[in-house]
Amino acid sequence: MKDKTLLMIPGPTPVPENVLLEMAKSPVPHRSSEFSRIFDEVNEDLKWIFQTKNDVFIFASSGTGAMDAALSNLVNPQDKVLSLVIGNFGERWAKIAESHGAAAERMTVPYGEVINPAELKARLDKDVNKEIKIVTMTHSETSTGAVNDIKTLCKIIREHGALSVVDGVTSVGAMDLKTDEWEIDVVVSGSQKGFMIPPGLAFLTASDRAFEVHKQCKYPGFYFNWSSYKKSLANHTTPYTPAVNLVIALHTALKMLKAEGLENIFARHKSNALLLRDCLRQMGLKLFVEDDTKASYAVTSVFPPDGISVPDIRKVLKEDYDIIIANGQNDLKDKIFRIGTLGFVSERDILTVVAALNASIEKLKRR
Ligand SMILES: Cc1ncc(COP(=O)(O)O)c(C=O)c1O
Repeated sequence: MKDKTLLMIPGPTPVPENVLLEMAKSPVPHRSSEFSRIFDEVNEDLKWIFQTKNDVFIFASSGTGAMDAALSNLVNPQDKVLSLVIGNFGERWAKIAESHGAAAERMTVPYGEVINPAELKARLDKDVNKEIKIVTMTHSETSTGAVNDIKTLCKIIREHGALSVVDGVTSVGAMDLKTDEWEIDVVVSGSQKGFMIPPGLAFLTASDRAFEVHKQCKYPGFYFNWSSYKKSLANHTTPYTPAVNLVIALHTALKMLKAEGLENIFARHKSNALLLRDCLRQMGLKLFVEDDTKASYAVTSVFPPDGISVPDIRKVLKEDYDIIIANGQNDLKDKIFRIGTLGFVSERDILTVVAALNASIEKLKRR
């Protein structure tokens, strides 16, 4: 049977039907009062989901565009950036920093682990001349399924005086990330994750402290320049043509999320992820991040059973049950599979994927 696909990857995530229908409408002219009214509401709701009083800029790009926009607006050539790397997306920050001429130092842990706050503190304590200007990190590391203790890490960074730059691509709208209360300087995210809309928008919010550093940035670039977005936002618009249909879809999705409430959204992601983890353990499967307190509620990484390959599991799930799960990335390709539980995902979806996974493994054992 066609058209019953269950998308259980960590992005793009499933999109509710009423959000899809919004996208099917004719585009609204972007320099119109009709669009500005929607845009203003979206901006207020984005502040709510990012838990900040500051502006949240909307870029027409994927999440990596917002990561690039974070560093291009802050670093000058030779600036020191410390990148906390717990997976591929943490490594991406270091590469972006280097692409803007900064000197990136990596603090790397074995994938599946998270950054130890004491080690970060020890490294920053050694930086007596305050040469480290920015510390980058991933909240929910989608390539492994581990989650950093952002609250503690950002407090340590704040005490040192560097700026904290956080990838919240698979955590905003899924796990608690209190941008203002935890004094995080920059948070970025992407539309195809917790926001329940398709790929194509990226978001960035920056603190006043970050804006002060931005003012000293010699080459902030053009398209992603924060100052241009800030100026336009004050005029209820964007500097360049926005992805209007996606913004309108986001308007509907954010209203749905607001009706659910932040605490309920976080509780749903937590209970779904923990249910999945329990079921997988009961099936005798080994989790890549074993400690529940270090596990992301957006994505769960799992080792296949002995003698059964990741591509075979994914193939049977797709062909027999129309369920799509993700492979591992880079070095973890074919070593783990990843199940996304992020965005428009219910407990029923978890039970469905567990039952189908169980049946797929049993089929493969009989082959
Ligand atoms: C944690 C994290 N950061 C960054 C990205 C990059 O986002 P995009 O692929 O939208 O550029 C992703 C995408 O999966 C992600 O999961």
